[in-house]
Formats: sequence, C-alpha cells, structure tokens
Amino acid sequence: MDTLSNKLKTEIELIKDNGLYKNERIINSKQDAEISVDNKLVLNFCANNYLGLSSSNDLIIAAKNGLDNWGLGLSSVRFICGTQAIHKKLEMQLSKFLNMDDTILYSSCFDANGGLFETLLDSNDVIISDALNHASIIDGVRLCKAQRKRYAHSNMKELELILKDTQSYNNRLITTDGVFSMDGDVAKLQHICNLAEQYKAIVHVDDSHATGFFGPTGRGSVDYCNVMDQIDIITSTLGKAMGGASGGFTSSSKNIIDILRQRSRPYLFSNSLAPAIVNASIKVLYLLNENNDLLHTLNENTAYFRSEITRIGYKIKDGVHPIIPIMLGDAKLAQNIAQDMLKENIYVIGFSYPVVPKGEARIRVQISAAHSRNDIDKAINAFHKIGLKYKVI
Ligand SMILES: Cc1ncc(COP(=O)(O)O)c(C=O)c1O
Repeated sequence: MDTLSNKLKTEIELIKDNGLYKNERIINSKQDAEISVDNKLVLNFCANNYLGLSSSNDLIIAAKNGLDNWGLGLSSVRFICGTQAIHKKLEMQLSKFLNMDDTILYSSCFDANGGLFETLLDSNDVIISDALNHASIIDGVRLCKAQRKRYAHSNMKELELILKDTQSYNNRLITTDGVFSMDGDVAKLQHICNLAEQYKAIVHVDDSHATGFFGPTGRGSVDYCNVMDQIDIITSTLGKAMGGASGGFTSSSKNIIDILRQRSRPYLFSNSLAPAIVNASIKVLYLLNENNDLLHTLNENTAYFRSEITRIGYKIKDGVHPIIPIMLGDAKLAQNIAQDMLKENIYVIGFSYPVVPKGEARIRVQISAAHSRNDIDKAINAFHKIGLKYKVI
C-alpha cells in the first residue's frame, strides 16, 4: 500500500506542477442561470443546461411523481426485475422523437458508448473514428476487438481513404460526435452519410451536445444536417439539455437494440435508471413536443451572445451552436480572465492544453435558454471590462 500511495502522491504532485490539477468548485444551489458559488450569486455560463431545464419546476414535479408512484429505484438490473412500465414508455418516446425503431436506456451516455461497439462488432470488422471523439467513444472502441482506424478531425478525404482501404472487412462503422464539445462545431454528417452509402458503412453519432435543442426541430445534429433517416445508431445523454440529471441511451434499428439488450455489458450488469429521472425525462419529451419556445429562446440567446461578443472585439470560433469558444491563445491569459470574470459574478471556465491544442487556450461559454437578455448583457459588459484590462480587445 505504501508503494502505491507514494507513486500516486508523486503523480498528483506532477499534475499540480503542470497546472492541471482540477479543483471542484462547490455550488450551494440548484443548477440554473444564476447559482450560488463561494457564498455569492453568479451567472452561470459553463453548464450544459442548454434548455434551462435542470431546475425546472415541471420536471421536479414529474420527478417527485416518479418517486411517489415508482419508488427510489429498482435494486435490480433491467432483465431481472428492473423494468417498469415507465422505462418502456421513455424508450418508446425517445424512439419516436428520433424516428428510430427502438431505444435502450443506460445509466449514462458514457455507458451507452461503452457497451455499444464490443456488442456489435468483432475482429472481422473495423471502426473508423474521428480523432476528436469523446472519451467514452474512445474507451468503448478500446473494449471492442474490431480493427481501429482514426481520421483527422472532420477530414473527409482521410475518412474516404480509410473507407477505400478497408473494403475487405465484414462491417465498417463510422463513429463521430454530432457536436464537438471544445469547438461547438458540427460533424459533417451529410458528407459522412454520403461516403457511408457509397462504401457501405454504418454510421454512429453521439449527439450528447445536441439532442433536444439543436437543429430545426431540436432532434440534434442529425436534424441540423438533415440526415435523420441516414444515421444507423444514435447515442445520447439525458444529463445535459434533457433535464440534466443523468442517464443515457442508444436508439437504432430493432435488431441492434435487441442484441444490446442481450449482450451490452453496462446494461446487463448495472442497475436500472432511477424512476424519478425516467419520469422527468418523459416530461422533457412532452414539453419538447408541446412547443418550440425553449428552442427559440436558446437560438436567440446564442445568436445575440455571438454577435455581441464579436462586436466588442473578441475572436470566437464561428458557428451557430450554444457552445461558444472565445479564443485567447495563451493558457495563463485564459485562466486569469476566467478568474477575473468570476470576480464580476460571471462564471466561465478557461480551457488549455492538453484539453485543446497548444496555443489555442480559450474560454468556453455555454448559452442556455434560462439566460435572460439582461444576464447576457451583464456577461458582455464584464467581458468588455476584463478584455480591456488584459488588452485582448
Ligand atoms: C459527446 C459526449 N458523449 C458522452 C458524454 C457522457 O455523457 P454522460 O454524462 O451521460 O455519461 C458526454 C459528456 O460529457 C459527451 O460530451
């Protein structure tokens, strides 16, 4: 034990020396546009709370009904005695929302991706993955015996070359995030689907940063790129826009979901999703089907922030997504600005190498439908003041 402890201590010191130690800031309120941090109220611009539903009264009531009527949890995996009527209802409604045959719930999207590839593919198959895919895709792919190929981020020429080179394999699966979380850029799904059709490959999209709010009807990047009927497998999370609690799912054809229920290890060997979350998620879908109000507010807020931050002189990554990277270049500068913004009661986070490429340090702002125009103006005013202080605008 001493040997291990000493090794870990050295490793932690190294992490600290490299400025990479992650301190967790304690929040003393619900997740919302305004939160309590370090005993003061700050405007939150770094949550994945895109639709502002994390503390929605409607959802809290639905979750309480879930508790009252279906209990705390199942104390069981799904196939023993862990499937309630509400689990089937949520799966059915997610399938309908995404226009897929069927859906299987997991405790998280990390688990959905972890249990996807090894269940479907074997050593006669190949997985072709975008270089910037989420860690859960990378880990899921590692668990699978299929051959692995990687194309440079969104590089369609490289993807095509790999597809050409791998025609002898039984099955080829292209896997990509729908929206990439550090840049807020959207996968080139039209192009990917065309190549997949040409070279007879399967397409998997992880739409965690898009499901529920992105695209004309909020169905995600697959909706934004108008390829809903060409995507074979979608994984996504219930832990961001869709209420923000936790949970994930895979939506696909009947056969794929059937085999995942039989063989996918994070599904077979892990407890069922808690009824409070299931009931709240059903309510999210109900709200999304009712009208597009939240979607419109989010789009308006995003467009307003993007144009205002550019107007005052910051450089951002172009796009339309509520993930807005404000490019600063230098890691220390990004950290200093984020710290000063907190003093102005605006909570944003600086990202630097190795999370993003060297020399591309940034502050990543995330916009929510819960932000008021006034909230966004306050953030812009603070960015203006701090930007002048550091002479970056
Ligand atoms: C693209 C992507 N996939 C998967 C996940 C994991 O989702 P969950 O929190 O449901 O495990 C995330 C969350 O950070 C993500 O951004």
